[in-house]
Amino acid sequence: MTPEIKVELSVSGVLAVTIARPDKKNALTNDMYGALADAITRASDDDEIRVLLIQADGDTFTAGNDVSEFAAQATGNGPKERNVTRFLRSLANATKPIIAAVQGKAVGVGTTMLLHCDYVLLSEEAQLITPFVNLALVPEAASSCLLPLRIGHVKAFEMFALGDAVPANAAVAWGIANKAVSNAELRAEARRVAEKIAAKPIGSLTAMKRLMRDAEKLVAQMDCESAIFVERLASAEAKEAFAAFAQKRQPDFTKIVRQ
Ligand code: COA
Repeated sequence: MTPEIKVELSVSGVLAVTIARPDKKNALTNDMYGALADAITRASDDDEIRVLLIQADGDTFTAGNDVSEFAAQATGNGPKERNVTRFLRSLANATKPIIAAVQGKAVGVGTTMLLHCDYVLLSEEAQLITPFVNLALVPEAASSCLLPLRIGHVKAFEMFALGDAVPANAAVAWGIANKAVSNAELRAEARRVAEKIAAKPIGSLTAMKRLMRDAEKLVAQMDCESAIFVERLASAEAKEAFAAFAQKRQPDFTKIVRQ
């Protein structure tokens, strides 16, 4: 249990999960990944829950993985159990529809988790950012296969390799999100969509979701990515990227010749 993930079940069967660490731009810690994984698994297992709604407090959906925890993992001081693995698997194996309401920046896993959501609402000023290469890492959450499938190789390569922000209107046009609404309308609109879906026949919804995705393949891709991700975390390139973030400066990769 962490207060930085709030979970609330409505009478209509919508389980709202709110990322609540706004002072750190909702950067995700190991404890937060654990609480998210628990909530997603609960949504799959509990018949009272018909829809999962993921939203966030503050001006940023999430700044992605907590970079100081990446740095700790890079030096072998990370947690024994990496809850991110459980979180990603719970997304791959999710049986109930997932709605996401995204305001501000969605960085790293903040964007890649959206590829596992079934209905994605953005605020008009939302930005999707996947800076894995900037951090000397590789994409995760099966996004190395899901993103090119969704938007095509060249756009996916550009997002991953350059890590530039994709604005909400482009994300909608490319099929990463359903629509963009004003920030003021975001929560209410997401709730409206969630309740509309919650009123549908749940047996049909879950059967349809199962037909639309191959959970086993997604988990296999996540496992491949994870093995490389862990290697990259320990690289000199990644250490330079994490040090640069902590020191609030640009990284300099030019002196690192080969990895
Ligand atoms: N991990 C840990 N702390 C983070 C964080 C992260 N991913 N993102 C932001 N924070 C912290 C900052 O260190 C800062 O803490 P401080 O107030 O103690 O100095 C606080 O959150 C506010 O962040 P700041 O950078 O001042 O806000 P901003 O509005 O200027 O920029 C971001 C917001 C999200 C663009 C920027 O913080 C950022 O790029 N974060 C890193 C994103 C990232 O690389 N994530 C990993 C993806 S794989």
